[in-house]
Amino acid sequence: PVVAVILSGGSGTRLWPLSRKAYPKQFLSLYGKETMFQQTLERLKGVEGLSDVVVVANEEHRFIVAEQMRQCGIKGRILLEPFGKNTAPAIALASLDIVKRYPDAHMLVLSSDHAIETVEPFMEAIKSAKRLSDDDLLVTFGVTPSSPETGYGYIRTADAIGIHGYKVGAFIEKPRKEVAIQMLEQGGHYWNSGMFMFKASVILNELKQYRLDIYKACESAVLSEQQDLDFIRFDAQKFELIPAESIDYAIMEHSKNVSMVPYSGMWSDVGSWDALWNISPRDESGNVLIGNVVALDTHNSYIRSTSKRVAVSGVEGLIVVATDDAVLVADKSQSQQVKDLVSALRVCD
Ligand code: GDD
Ligand code: MG
Repeated sequence: PVVAVILSGGSGTRLWPLSRKAYPKQFLSLYGKETMFQQTLERLKGVEGLSDVVVVANEEHRFIVAEQMRQCGIKGRILLEPFGKNTAPAIALASLDIVKRYPDAHMLVLSSDHAIETVEPFMEAIKSAKRLSDDDLLVTFGVTPSSPETGYGYIRTADAIGIHGYKVGAFIEKPRKEVAIQMLEQGGHYWNSGMFMFKASVILNELKQYRLDIYKACESAVLSEQQDLDFIRFDAQKFELIPAESIDYAIMEHSKNVSMVPYSGMWSDVGSWDALWNISPRDESGNVLIGNVVALDTHNSYIRSTSKRVAVSGVEGLIVVATDDAVLVADKSQSQQVKDLVSALRVCD
């Protein structure tokens, strides 16, 4: 059986003021009708052999998660974290939950906040990944890089494994700009999409080998779990003791058994306003205009208001986002810095 795991604990601060601590980006309709979380659920409907869905999310978002799943007609277990401990513990908790019920399950781990437009290549990649994970490999999905992004992990491919993928020579999480540029020039490097496939039993063994501390702390949290309908909760004091780490640093950078399936379709980690501008349909001046806005002599800008009328004139490459209680004005090239702005404001709630 294949069990999908959707990681949904991120806070999306770079998309402030729309994305908020209490209502982060994955639960918003930033492009398209459905929210990104719902687009992730919808995509699952085409996955062959899918037996179950496990969502790992923050306690604070439980009703949003449950309601958005209900709207999509998808049932599943919802593991609630009292606080975020990053992706390694989230994946460990899901694996421990899954292996109890399906000892030989393959886990398809997805982020809740990715834009994937072309579904066909995605399904093909999943089929290839299943073949590789059958052989006890950890499978990553690699996207052909189009720019030297520093917000992504990179995968250096080694030998091909049949027609399905590659062995991974090295996994380089969030490199410096110069290193990213070098990798692009060299070729043979892909962006880590942050989606994974592996057997639950295999990832648990890798955790035991490389991060026994995380494994043990998660095992002890799982022993404390309480189920309430579809919600599964853990004892907060036990949970507190789990070391926070990403799966990339905890396992992928160290394991000898990592493989990669190339994914050639459209993919974006909708991380910033700039990224969102990039994937949104634009008018002939290169603008994305949403809601109560008017723009004159304006180019390559993202202007959005869900509140007061916003009028802009004679600007280029600008982000303006207005909500009921806040207005963001930023140069598009400063999209990554919105995070710093939010910590300066400490208003992301
Ligand atoms: N449940 C849970 N708990 N989910 C979490 C937590 C947590 O504590 N922290 C993050 N997530 C979820 C996020 O909601 C997102 O869906 C996914 O896990 C990835 O976390 P990010 O915080 O967005 O990671 P990143 O973007 O910095 O880096 C990862 O993704 C990149 C691609 O988007 C890495 O895997 C990179 O290597 C990769 O390139
Ligand atoms: Mg991300």
